[in-house]
Amino acid sequence: MTVTPETRFRTSQLEENDGPPVNPTDNRTMGEIIAARFSRRGFLMGSLAVSAIAATVSPLALIAADEARAAEASAFKFDELEAGIDDKHHVAPGYDADVLLRWGDPLFADSPEFDPAKQSAEAQARQFGYNNDYVGYIPIDGSAEHGLLVVNHEYTNPHLMFPGIVSIVEKDGKKAAEVAPLSKEQVDVEMAAHGGTIVEIRKQGGKWQVVRDGKLNRRIMSTTEMALSGPVAGHDRVKTNADPSGAKVIGTVNNCAGGVTPWGTYVMAEENIHGYFSGELPEGHREAANYKRLGIPEGAYEWGAHYDRFNLAKEPNEPNRFGWIVEVDVNDPASVPRKRTAMGRFKHEGAESIVARDGRVVFYLGDDERFDYVYKFVTAGKFNPDDRAANMDLLDDGTLHVAKFAEDGSVEWIPIVFGEGPLTAENGFASQADVLIETRRAADLLGATKMDRPEDIQPNAGNGKVYVMLTNNTKRKAEQVDAANPRAGNAFGHIIEIVEEGGDFAATKGKWEVLLKCGDPSVADVGATFSTATTAHGWFGMPDNCAVDSAGRLWVATDGQGPKATGRTDGLWAVDTEGDARATSKLFFRVPIGAEMCGPLFAPDDQTAFVAVQHPGDGGEDWEGFGRPSHYEDPSTRWPDFKPDMPVRPSVVAITKQGGGKIAV
Ligand code: FEO
Ligand code: CA
Ligand code: CA
Repeated sequence: MTVTPETRFRTSQLEENDGPPVNPTDNRTMGEIIAARFSRRGFLMGSLAVSAIAATVSPLALIAADEARAAEASAFKFDELEAGIDDKHHVAPGYDADVLLRWGDPLFADSPEFDPAKQSAEAQARQFGYNNDYVGYIPIDGSAEHGLLVVNHEYTNPHLMFPGIVSIVEKDGKKAAEVAPLSKEQVDVEMAAHGGTIVEIRKQGGKWQVVRDGKLNRRIMSTTEMALSGPVAGHDRVKTNADPSGAKVIGTVNNCAGGVTPWGTYVMAEENIHGYFSGELPEGHREAANYKRLGIPEGAYEWGAHYDRFNLAKEPNEPNRFGWIVEVDVNDPASVPRKRTAMGRFKHEGAESIVARDGRVVFYLGDDERFDYVYKFVTAGKFNPDDRAANMDLLDDGTLHVAKFAEDGSVEWIPIVFGEGPLTAENGFASQADVLIETRRAADLLGATKMDRPEDIQPNAGNGKVYVMLTNNTKRKAEQVDAANPRAGNAFGHIIEIVEEGGDFAATKGKWEVLLKCGDPSVADVGATFSTATTAHGWFGMPDNCAVDSAGRLWVATDGQGPKATGRTDGLWAVDTEGDARATSKLFFRVPIGAEMCGPLFAPDDQTAFVAVQHPGDGGEDWEGFGRPSHYEDPSTRWPDFKPDMPVRPSVVAITKQGGGKIAV
C-alpha cells in the first residue's frame, strides 16, 4: 500500500501479521521431509489415469462423469452465486441478505443515532462497535427466533472512520494517502468501538430485528473492567502499578473469533494484541524475550501516548494481561468478564467448543501467526446441563494441549503442563502460571508443528471431525514444507480435517488429512485440490472463519481475496466433506470490495445464516473505481472515485430463504 504512515492501515498490518516470523525455533516443520501423502485430487487424478488406460476411455469423459457424480452427491442444493468484484454484497438466487446491524447503530433506548461527524466515546459506548468479527447466538427460552446475538468488534480502521484525517498527496508521481495523528478523543472512540456487543434480536414476519431496549443488551469495550482468573491470576508477572493485585484488568482488545459455551456464555478471543503497545521496556526487563515472541510492541495504535497501561516504559507487565480468552456471562449485564488464563496466552483466533463423551468440554484454539500452533483445551470438570451455575468456572481448570502433526497422518495432542517434559525450572518456568504466560515458548519446547496461520477451528458433533482453517503462509520455504503444511509459499491456505481417536474429542491422539488445498484449481502451479465439480465461482483462497450447520455441513468464510489475489471478493462458500462430493465448494454469499467475511453462524433452526462484513472499502486506493481514503471525507477532499452510496459500515447481515425454510436443503 502506498500509504503513510503505514501503521495506520491496520488490516494489512495486523490481520496478515505481515512481519518477520516471530517463531524463532527450528522446531519441526518436519524440515527435510517432503509430503509423502497424496492429496485427494492428486489421488483421484492418478486413479483416473490408470483406469483410463485399462478401459481405453477418454480421461476427459471420466472427469465429466466424476463431476456429474460429485454435483449430484453435493449436500448443498442452492444455485451458485457468481464470483466477482464490486461495491455491493450478493447472495445466491432465492435468498435475501438483510443488514441487521451496522457500526454505530443504537443498542439502547438512550443511544444517539449514528453521526460520523459527531463521534464520541460516550456515543460509541451506546452503539454497535466497529469491525464485527465473531457472531454467536444464545437462544432465549430455547427459541431459534428470539435470542441474544453476541458479536466481537476486532479492531478499528481510523482512516475509514474519522472524517478529515486523511489527505491525498503526490509521491513519486503517484497518489498516496496521508493520515493525521489521532486526537485523544478519537483514541477514546477507538477504545469504545473495540470489544463486543450483546444484543437481543427477534424474528418477526420472517425478518430479524434488533430489540433496542433489550434488558440484556450490553457493550464490552477496551475500557470495561475485567478479572484475570485461573492459574495466572495474582502472579507477579501480571501485577501493575494500577493493579497491584494482578487480578483486575481494564479492557480487552482485538477480539477476533470466539465462541458460545455449552452453558451459554460468550467467549471472546484476544488476537493481535501486539499493535496496542508502544514504548520501550526498561533495560534488561525479564519480559523482553516473552514479548519478542509475540511481536510486542508493534505500536500501530497511539493508545500508549494517552494511557499508561499501553506504554511498556510505564507498565512493563501490562502485555501479560492480554492475549487470553475472555468469558462473559450474558445473563447479567453487570457481570465482570473473566480472562481465563488456563486456556493459554497467544494470538487467539477462536474458541469453538464441544462436550466430549465423558462430559468434559473441549475448546479448539488457533494461534494466528505464521509458523504458530493449533491448540485444544480440555476442562478438568464436567459440563452439567441441569445447573448453569455449576459450569461457570469450568474454564479455570483444565489441560491445554498443542498439536503435533506427523507425516503418517496421525496427530498427537501434547499436554502443556508445568513440570512435564521440558517445562521445568531449567527452561525458566517456575509454575504453571509461567508456562501459560509464555504458552508459545512452552509449545516450542514441546516440538509442536508450525502451521500456516491457524484461524478458526470447528468441531462437528455430527461426524466427530474437526476442521482447521489455515489461512496462508507465503513465507514457508520449500525446505520447510511438511505433510500438514504441504505447500511452499502457501498463498491461498488449506483446511485440515482431524478425526479424534475413538471419536472422542477429549482424546490425546487422532488422525488427520488435508481436506482442501485452496486457490484456483485451473492453475496447475497453485496445486489446489477442489473436486472437479467445483465451478470457476466455487473455488476460494484464504479460509478464515467457518461454521457447521445443524446438518453437519461445513461453510467457510475467507479473508484476503480481492482483485490481485484471486480476482474475487471474500465470501461464504459451502464445502462438501463427505462421499463423492467431498472437496466440492460452492459460492453462497460475497462481500463488497475491501471487506473480509467474518461470522458465519447458523441459527439453531438453520433458517438464517448470520454473516459479518468487516472493513468494507478498506485499502481502496489499490482498486480503481472504488478507492477513497475515508468513507466520510469532505467532498472536496474525497478520492475522485468515491461513490456516496457505497456500503461503508461494517455490518452483520442476516441471510434467509425467500418464502422461508432452511438454508440450502
Ligand atoms: Fe483476526 Fe486471525 O483473524
Ligand atoms: Ca479471523
Ligand atoms: Ca480474519
